[in-house]
Amino acid sequence: MSPFLVTRTLPEDATDAALRADVLHGLTRAPKTLPPKWFYDALGSELFEKITALPEYYPTRAEREILVARAPEIAAATGARTLVELGSGSSEKTKHLLDALPALHTYVPVDVSESALRQAGEALAVERPSLDVHALIADFTAGLTLPGTPGPRLVAFLGGTLGNLLPAERAAFLASVRSLLSPGDALLLGTDLVKDESVLVAAYDDAAGVTAAFNKNVLSVVNRELGADFDPDGFSHVARWNAEEEWIEMRLRALSAVTVKIPALDIAVEFAEGEEMRTEVSAKFREAGVRAELAATGLELTHWWTDTEGRFALSLSTAR
Ligand code: SAH
Ligand code: AVI
Repeated sequence: MSPFLVTRTLPEDATDAALRADVLHGLTRAPKTLPPKWFYDALGSELFEKITALPEYYPTRAEREILVARAPEIAAATGARTLVELGSGSSEKTKHLLDALPALHTYVPVDVSESALRQAGEALAVERPSLDVHALIADFTAGLTLPGTPGPRLVAFLGGTLGNLLPAERAAFLASVRSLLSPGDALLLGTDLVKDESVLVAAYDDAAGVTAAFNKNVLSVVNRELGADFDPDGFSHVARWNAEEEWIEMRLRALSAVTVKIPALDIAVEFAEGEEMRTEVSAKFREAGVRAELAATGLELTHWWTDTEGRFALSLSTAR
């Protein structure tokens, strides 16, 4: 079996402190918001995996199609010896890349979800005995320090997770990714593309209600971690296309007026009947926008690949 190492780059109580800060900040202003990274406890990570198999949720299938078709080109263009994957989750799609990179020595999956990292890392260590797997439990928005592994380094950020950051967060995030790249390293970025509203809304409001359960799971996380008394059944799932911002917004709408106690913060938060709290944005992109955002942080887009239906894009860029 290959070595499988897990490193926590944050102190044990940092997650708790960050959740408290985010909940206090997001629930004591109007409109209320919660950042999407809190979806991903063990149940949230499982629900996300279920989402990826839903008939309405095309991004995972579309990105897999591109990875399968383009993995040899990615391998030839990068010669990567280390693959760092930010927000790696189950690492399922990544296997196509791992299989195609002949010089690969080390895989560094990075995620806030310890359960997802351990499950994926333990399986990979058995399946790929010659690969070093060094998992990092870390917040990719909080400044990353990577282990010293052989270059060239390919940093992958798949699934369209870039779209879950707000524009200012995206710029800061891309700048921090740029700072991880040395000459010869590359960024492989998955971005979901702007398309028909009905296709987008269906992808985020599936008939089986899995995305609704994923959305409401954030309330259970706040209940468990901060002792709050949210009733998830007292909220409904909302997925709405914001045409001006070109992003899907997921929200939770209070079905009736309610006061929620959050003992760990010593606050009570009032929701009016029908009040909506934004829990996620999922921005959709165009090629020119991706190219410009990368250029603004000193990255040059060298390859742009889409699936045959033009729903999703993978791009490769290098430091200028
Ligand atoms: N890359 C996978 C998983 C996407 S789901 C795919 O394409 O299918 C988004 C993943 O990012 C989840 O595993 C979640 O736990 C992780 N994540 C979300 N916000 C994060 C953050 N701020 N830092 C690190 N990981 C994060
Ligand atoms: C992880 N991320 C790219 C997903 C998305 O599509 O924005 C999260 C998700 N939210 C609802 N469904 C899936």
